[in-house]
Formats: sequence, structure tokens, C-alpha cells
Amino acid sequence: MRVAAVLAGGKGLRMGTAVPKQYLEILGVPVIIRSINAFIKNPEIDMCIVSVAADYISYVSELIKKHISSDKDIFVIEGGETRGDTLLSVLRFMEDKSILNESIVLTHDAVRPFVTDRIISDNIRAAEKYGACNTCVTAVDTILISSDGEFIESVPDRRTVFHAQTPQSFNARKLYELIKKMSEEDFEKLTDGCSVFTFHNEKVNIVRGENFNIKITYPDDIKRAEDIIIQYFN
Ligand code: CTP
Repeated sequence: MRVAAVLAGGKGLRMGTAVPKQYLEILGVPVIIRSINAFIKNPEIDMCIVSVAADYISYVSELIKKHISSDKDIFVIEGGETRGDTLLSVLRFMEDKSILNESIVLTHDAVRPFVTDRIISDNIRAAEKYGACNTCVTAVDTILISSDGEFIESVPDRRTVFHAQTPQSFNARKLYELIKKMSEEDFEKLTDGCSVFTFHNEKVNIVRGENFNIKITYPDDIKRAEDIIIQYFN
């Protein structure tokens, strides 16, 4: 089974709006609906799990009823305090439903509504072949390393530096087993599944993303998102 997990348990503090950014409308459609739709419309995806803060469960269920018509199951479940906990809520739900074995799970930021069919397909192939993958784009600007934010320690070769996007996709059983092997303290430091794999020295394949596959984070990103819809999704 190929399961899309849309992670939407965040508060969107940097956006600073009254409702978390995943619920803002962009050109008439809420961000979270654009993200869910990108997966649910893909013929290779069998099911979608949307993990949200407890007080948004009924709100999101209503939004889905209003905007999405699909025969595929879309489950809305309760996420956690951190992104890692929200990811874990998805894996526990899959275990409870007995769909963890043999499944690929594509974990995706709800606030990244421009994921494409090509990215989804490449994620599925890579997760099936390697067990884990991360969608990435090459760094355009040179990246500088500085621990104190005042002086530069090193300048990595730009060709070796990538920006991580989502989806991040996994053999779901393997991801869950690797998390269970970690102490709570170690897991708390991580925000995503790829870090769990690298923590255990397991390989994570790189899948090519798109520069327009942005994460809506700051108020300026709303205008950028509108422009992307007009340029690429109309
Ligand atoms: N996320 C989540 N559960 C959390 C925290 C974050 O599912 N407890 C999700 C967000 O909803 C978002 C994605 O992880 O879809 C990427 O996180 P980020 O952009 O950092 O979102 P927020 O944590 O909401 O933003 P901020 O840091 O500005 O508060």
C-alpha cells in the first residue's frame, strides 16, 4: 500500500496569523486541501492520513468533505506536540489499522502544497528500492557554517549541499522499528524520518524536488504561492 501522510499539527508561529498557516486560503483553496489533493488525485496513492492538532480534527474533516470528492480513504487523526510526535502518530495509526507492513509512507508537510505527480512517483520508486528517501533541490546560494552566528567556520562545496523538501518517504515498518530502537531523548531531538535513518547510519536516497515546491512559512510566501499557482498550476 502507498500511504500519504500529511503532517499538519504545527502552529505556524512564524506566519503569525490567527489560524495556523495550513488553513489559510490561497486563491480560494486552503493550503492543506491543496496538499491532500495532490496525493489523493495521484493514481499510485491508496490512502491519505492527515495528522492535525486535536482541536482541528472536526474542522479539517469538514474542510475535506467540502472540497474533496474521492473514493479513497482520508483519515484525520490527532498529531503531537512536535513534528516528530506527529509523524509517530501516523505510524501508530498505521500499526493499529494493520497496514504498517508492506506499506510505503510518503510523509509530507501540509504547508508544501506544490508537490507534483513526478515527485510523488520518484519518491515511491526510491522508497521501494532504498527504504528511505528525501526530496531535495541543489543549493543555489553558497551555504556557510557558523555555530555562533558571528564568524564563519567553514564553507562547504556548494555541489555537496542540498535543501531538504518533502515528501520524505519510507518503508513504514522499517521507520517504525528504527524509531522504537531510539531513546525518547534522542528521538525528541529529531524532527523527521530521514534523520531517524541517518541516526542509525542507514542510507537515505535523494529524489529531485522542484524549486517551486516551497514550504509556506512567512507572510511573504503567500504572494509567492499565488504566483506559483498562476505560473505552474493553472
Ligand atoms: N508539524 C506537525 N506537527 C507539529 C509541528 C509541525 O505536523 N507538532 C508540521 C506543520 O504543520 C507543517 C510541517 O510540520 O506542515 C513543517 O513545519 P513548520 O513549517 O515548521 O510548521 P510550524 O511548526 O507550524 O511553523 P512554525 O515553526 O513557524 O511555528
